[in-house]
Amino acid sequence: MLSGKNILLGITGGIAAYKTTFLVRLLIKAGANVKVILTESASSFVSPLTLATLSKNPVVSSFVKTEEHTTDWNNHVEMGLWADLMLVAPATANTLSKMANGSCDNLLLATYLSAKCPVFFAPAMDLDMYKHESTKVSFEKLTAFGNIMIPATSGELASGLHGEGRMAEPEDIVAFVSDYLSKGLPLSGKKVLITAGPTYEAIDPVRFVGNHSTGLMGFELAEAAADLGAHVVLVSGPSHLTTKNGNIDLKRVVSADEMYAASHEVYDEVDVAICAAAVADYRPKTVADQKIKKSDSELSIALTKNKDILFSLGAKKKKQFLVGFALETENEEANAKGKLQRKNLDAIVLNSLNDPGAGFGTKTNKIRFIDKNLTIKTFELKTKAEVASDIWNEIIPRIHA
Ligand code: CTP
Repeated sequence: MLSGKNILLGITGGIAAYKTTFLVRLLIKAGANVKVILTESASSFVSPLTLATLSKNPVVSSFVKTEEHTTDWNNHVEMGLWADLMLVAPATANTLSKMANGSCDNLLLATYLSAKCPVFFAPAMDLDMYKHESTKVSFEKLTAFGNIMIPATSGELASGLHGEGRMAEPEDIVAFVSDYLSKGLPLSGKKVLITAGPTYEAIDPVRFVGNHSTGLMGFELAEAAADLGAHVVLVSGPSHLTTKNGNIDLKRVVSADEMYAASHEVYDEVDVAICAAAVADYRPKTVADQKIKKSDSELSIALTKNKDILFSLGAKKKKQFLVGFALETENEEANAKGKLQRKNLDAIVLNSLNDPGAGFGTKTNKIRFIDKNLTIKTFELKTKAEVASDIWNEIIPRIHA
């Protein structure tokens, strides 16, 4: 959820500030871009150099840049607009009260007032301060503004007292923010299976029967689904591609039999399955133990049929919305419709090799999306990332209907 997100972390002056070094690490590990604003008192608790090193960005704390004779200043409006989300952690009683009342006497507060993105705050203070009526008023006002509170937890406090007021642990803050962001997304809570790439069917230890699929279409479908909030299991045949979104569980396989097994292992749990793999229809009947030596005579390799993964998923379909691909050269629509019905699909994505730039081995694709009412929607030639997004735009309303 946090991958590629611009996160502005505002750190205020409480002992829990020392934990923000771990928080920055976790945000960076989750793929976020992090910029840190420290209040002056926060820099007594945590070093700007540590935070700058971990966040890979300069840490700022005053309006004016510190070099001598500079006219340059830290632009709170620009920082506020840069941020996809702002997180104030730890948020002291003092800063929360100022945020609630529109005070603007430091860079963090000015940036807060300029930010248009969601703002999260993780309070940290002693238990009596946490319970004080004025603090409660700050919480109420800030949540009424639409800011999101990450509640403090109970435990031992820096004062030695026990009670509510400990800042949530960095792992919990990251989980809280990720959960919050995923809730509004159309595939939040959904599990998706995607098959991608070619399969290699062994002839002997060094040779195989395969095809030119790169896996790009399936990988783009997986990234798009994960960006829309889904948890994705991507079962891919041999491919050089890697995944970006942490919500994709990539299972690499080689043969059609392995792809069949990996797909069936998760199928019962998924809400949507898309078979985008270019599965080899046949495999050598026997696999030689040793490398086959050349001879002067002809060589014939007997092939036997592979299981049709998509067909088998259609046969045991219950709640799943099942989508197949059809790559055709003639009678395209009639063939694709036939496959949709024969394999018990909810939709089929048709590529025609008669369309330049479509099919596999290309960075682009041109598709027709056919649903089970046999309604056809035709799309222009686009990048495979754009095609993936078009396909999800067709699937989402149908699974929510
Ligand atoms: N597919 C599959 N397992 C196979 C073969 C195909 O899951 N062993 C899936 C593909 O991932 C694709 C769809 O079935 O989603 C269409 O495959 P295709 O090879 O075009 O169709 P076939 O039914 O095999 O017919 P034909 O090869 O005759 O066109």
